[in-house]
Amino acid sequence: MVINNTSSSLIDILRQRRQRLASLIDFPAILWSGSSNPRNFPANVFPFRASSHFLYFAGLPLPNVAIRLDAGKLELFMDDPQPNSALWYGEMPQRHEIAAHIGADDAKPMAELESCLEDAATVAVQDAATWTQQSQLLNRWVLPQKSPIGIDLELAKAIISLRLTHDADALVQLQKAAAVSVAAHKAGMAATPKAKIEAEVRAAMEGVFIAHNMTTAYNSVVTVHGEVLHNEHYHHPLQPGDLLLVDVGGETEMGWAADITRTWPVSGQFSATQKDIYNIVLAAHDACIAKIYPGVEYADVHLLATNIIAEGLVDLGILQGNAEDLVEMDAHALFFPHGIGHLLGLDVHDMEDLGDLAGYDEGRQRSDRFGLSYLRLNRPLRPGMLVTIEPGFYQVPAILNEAKLHPTYQKLVNWERLSHFHDVRGIRIEDDVLVTENGTEVLTAALPNNISAVENLCK
Ligand code: GLY
Ligand code: MN
Ligand code: MN
Repeated sequence: MVINNTSSSLIDILRQRRQRLASLIDFPAILWSGSSNPRNFPANVFPFRASSHFLYFAGLPLPNVAIRLDAGKLELFMDDPQPNSALWYGEMPQRHEIAAHIGADDAKPMAELESCLEDAATVAVQDAATWTQQSQLLNRWVLPQKSPIGIDLELAKAIISLRLTHDADALVQLQKAAAVSVAAHKAGMAATPKAKIEAEVRAAMEGVFIAHNMTTAYNSVVTVHGEVLHNEHYHHPLQPGDLLLVDVGGETEMGWAADITRTWPVSGQFSATQKDIYNIVLAAHDACIAKIYPGVEYADVHLLATNIIAEGLVDLGILQGNAEDLVEMDAHALFFPHGIGHLLGLDVHDMEDLGDLAGYDEGRQRSDRFGLSYLRLNRPLRPGMLVTIEPGFYQVPAILNEAKLHPTYQKLVNWERLSHFHDVRGIRIEDDVLVTENGTEVLTAALPNNISAVENLCK
């Protein structure tokens, strides 16, 4: 871990975050950073990613440490590097140097944590070694896949209320993640004419993150098979006539994410059928962003997208009936099966380690309707929230084959007409939208999304 100059503004912002936490809870919180997972043998590990809740209050991606937050004070628990680690990893900062960097009030060896656990709440860390340690030390199950209860639940709710809206330091990081991700997408578009397979476009894009000492915020999707929503294969050849669906976002060194999707033609020119569908998705995207304003329900933004997509597909003759009725019957979800977006911050799906606690307002639960069940955010929007807007259109064989046999859905689709759109397997357009006092700021607006500008970038 390299630490640069201690910035007083970082220390100030971290202090403010823990003061705000102290105003919400009256018990101590202990947050573990997590540890590296072995890849194939113990010394060969996957890249370390610190727990986001830890990062929010500690500001540094340190492995194998814990912080105790109590009444606005921060105690750091960390072992000094082993004497022989300098051989392999170079000189590492000592505990007291890290403590000074993050403005800790005290710093102790890890072994002393055991005597500071009384009445402490925590949040489960994803890696098994750490949640096992959390469970053993706290003498209760602390499991990432289980909803927190008792004081752990109170702590989770307090952290959510802080992380739901972003402070000035977070916004600087999020803007950086967005700007570098925009550059990565432009590099991907520019690399497409000469690329033979998807992997070459991915390489051009992820190289931009590496050059900024950043990583991807999630596994990149760079695929000519956009109908596979989480396609993580990169071996397909790029053929003229294909659309490339590219969902790639970067993460800053401090862990803040961007999440962008563009869909562009391998040949540099959309076909007429591709243009028709692309413009429906873009109309939904633009209308949703225009609707965002403090107080607006995010679920209503989703419903706006479903209506525009249903209406557009009726106009093209693909769906049959009245758009509102079709949405009532979830027919739009045959082609747009996911939600309009989600929270974005330190996690690409921010705070989804806590299930729906962050995404769903108190007392709300996921619908079991096909057209609503994948909606990840259902809250009124507030200034400082960052959300994605990502409508799409997909021809997912598993969904459409079932619809063909379904007594209701089979009649709502004009299958013959749909067959003319066989060169549109998947389109998504995704941007990162900050809710402001007056509406929105699109952090990823520097990346064009209209047809002619995208075509120009691909030439
Ligand atoms: N990249 C993940 C998502 O768009 O939700
Ligand atoms: Mn997204
Ligand atoms: Mn995405």
